Amino acid sequence: MEKVALLTGAGQGIGLAIARKLLECGSHIVLNDMGKSLTQEAVAHLSRLGKGSVIGCSGDAAKQEVIDEMVQLALQRHGQIDQLVCNAGITLFGNFLDYSRADFMEVTRVNQAGTFFLTQAVSQVMKKQDLGGAILFTSSVTAHQSHEHLAAYAMSKAAIEMLAKNLVLELAPFGIRINTVAPGATLTERTTSDPAYASTWSKITPLGRPAFPEDIAEAASFLLSDAARHITGQTLIIDGGWTAISPSPYA
Ligand SMILES: NC(=O)c1ccc[n+]([C@@H]2O[C@H](COP(=O)([O-])OP(=O)(O)OC[C@H]3O[C@@H](n4cnc5c(N)ncnc54)[C@H](O)[C@@H]3O)[C@@H](O)[C@H]2O)c1
Repeated sequence: MEKVALLTGAGQGIGLAIARKLLECGSHIVLNDMGKSLTQEAVAHLSRLGKGSVIGCSGDAAKQEVIDEMVQLALQRHGQIDQLVCNAGITLFGNFLDYSRADFMEVTRVNQAGTFFLTQAVSQVMKKQDLGGAILFTSSVTAHQSHEHLAAYAMSKAAIEMLAKNLVLELAPFGIRINTVAPGATLTERTTSDPAYASTWSKITPLGRPAFPEDIAEAASFLLSDAARHITGQTLIIDGGWTAISPSPYA
């Protein structure tokens, strides 16, 4: 049966790569991004691939009215939602000792509350449909290893990993699976604004390079597919081995 996927923050980067992969696997796509033109360009790009249908819904995915709009659009167009990717996330760097309340609240609002309430809305739909479902969160290696200037961000990503685990209790009875991918350094618009990013991370990544968005998309599409039908509440770290090692006194 054809599946319908709703993805947030998918106008570029990791989200767009996951949307492309799900489209190739036969899903219909409802794509959200904060930016209107980014959403339109992504929809046009994906539509040119000539696979399933693609529609856009721009807006702040952490706002309840946008959550309601995305869900309504998916249901009006397709009558169901089978796959959800809560990918929208922001990074606001800063020292812990000087970090502002405003930045903390914004990171928490988008990364944590946005993921929580969109998942709540879509889970209600999936429960009613009684067809099961697959939900994926986008965390980060910073939920596992300390990274300077990212205390609030790391905390928000660790929180959504725990959310996925916690929701197994409430969602497994309805056949809804919920997993998380935790990317390491990945070459997206966000990171490549630093021209030294790729070479810096290549030096400290055991597999010798940062991830491409497609590396994350492969894992994401697996976790969202029926091939992962007995996997729920898990986090898959995709980082070329970065979190598997610790600094060596002999390096
Ligand atoms: N790139 C990396 O190295 C990396 C590593 C670990 C985790 N991540 C996570 O992966 C996800 C995607 O990252 P990326 O590198 O592709 O980012 P990106 O900044 O290149 O793209 C993210 C997209 O999300 C959109 N967005 C931001 N806030 C939004 C909101 N409130 N509502 C809707 N859309 C919103 C942006 O407009 C942007 O197009 C994020 O959750 C990020 O935290 C990225």
